[in-house]
Amino acid sequence: MTYTPERPARVGLIGTGNIFGRYVHGMARFPRLKIVGCADLDHARAVKAAAEHGIAAYDSVEALLADPDIDIVVNITPPVAHAAVTAQAIRAGKHVYVEKPVAATVAEAEPLMALAEKHGVRYGSAPDTFLGSAAQTARRALDEGAIGTPVGATAFVTHSKAETWHPDPTFLFVPGGGPGLDLGPYYLTHLVNLLGPIATVSGLSRIGAPVRAVTSPGRTVESIEVTTPTHAAAVLGFASGVIGSLQMSFDVWNHHLPFIEVYGTEGTLSLPDPNGFDGDVRVRGNLDAEWTTLPPVFEPSGPLEMEVQMLRGSGVDDLAGAVDGAPHRASAALAFHVLEALEAVETSSTTRQVVELTSTAARPAPVNSEGATA
Ligand SMILES: NC(=O)c1ccc[n+]([C@@H]2O[C@H](COP(=O)([O-])OP(=O)(O)OC[C@H]3O[C@@H](n4cnc5c(N)ncnc54)[C@H](O)[C@@H]3O)[C@@H](O)[C@H]2O)c1
Repeated sequence: MTYTPERPARVGLIGTGNIFGRYVHGMARFPRLKIVGCADLDHARAVKAAAEHGIAAYDSVEALLADPDIDIVVNITPPVAHAAVTAQAIRAGKHVYVEKPVAATVAEAEPLMALAEKHGVRYGSAPDTFLGSAAQTARRALDEGAIGTPVGATAFVTHSKAETWHPDPTFLFVPGGGPGLDLGPYYLTHLVNLLGPIATVSGLSRIGAPVRAVTSPGRTVESIEVTTPTHAAAVLGFASGVIGSLQMSFDVWNHHLPFIEVYGTEGTLSLPDPNGFDGDVRVRGNLDAEWTTLPPVFEPSGPLEMEVQMLRGSGVDDLAGAVDGAPHRASAALAFHVLEALEAVETSSTTRQVVELTSTAARPAPVNSEGATA
């Protein structure tokens, strides 16, 4: 199937919470995507969100899935619901794009890839920010030898302070959440895009504060009992031999840490926040006196303001292209590999063993110079 502006992929959104508006606005930028409607377990919430954005609300998730006019389901429910909603959509014959993490656990995620294959549908997953100008500029620089041969890499996942802005961030502090599953996918997906698959993981993790106060305006909860680790450090052994170090924490409130750096035999590459699409990618040769900011390999998606960088939809457009045979970059297979690596941090911490990953993932195809994912 070739989706075009004349015959766009018709998209149904399941989950009309916090991130819903960013999908609605973000997807409007892609001519081959058209939002048909939305649904939520909480019907009143779907009706309200639909009215705010001028789209239709289905009576139920089942009604949305039964509509033959929907080609792609975008699953933006909380992580604990990802697997069940994805399975429902696949069984209904829809292509699926799910927010990160691809599922709350490796065990839940694993059967879904075979299920998608059985039903002949494409299955994609966030994050998609590695399709943006910054990650693609870094990838090109690395591939062209700007820092020689990569030896090491580091990534620091720090606190998004969700309890100060999300009305109910409970899902971030219970199993299925934590900095690893919430923000870790952005960082590890970027690292795999740059350096290829991860082979081994060792790590330690712990809960920082056992109770979190929620201070966000319009909050629906006052405090959260924390039942998943909020602070972790890990060593990543990439299949290429690169050694990565990773810190992920909701206990680091302030710091001077970089987001992602890659260290090569001839220099260092520094990337901006992988939770956005654009930003300065800088390189510094071993003996250079200064950092050089690389020109982006294609036009950035927009200004570096949070609202613009947090718009979503590129991964859905990537999925629409993949249905037509283009490379599938933000694939569930990549997201699964990243999830396995993140879960391995926990496993390693509990067992005090190095974990050998069972999955692998090829580096996704680079995005072309126009920034299109087709
Ligand atoms: N909020 C953000 O800034 C942000 C950013 C990037 C990614 N994400 C991801 O997007 C997803 C959603 O996050 P959010 O912040 O919008 O969550 P949210 O809790 O604000 O909204 C989730 C919605 O899903 C609905 N829901 C729950 N279970 C369902 C089910 N089984 N079927 C149908 N609807 C169901 C809930 O009623 C709710 O309206 C998460 O995976 C999160 O990691 C969120």
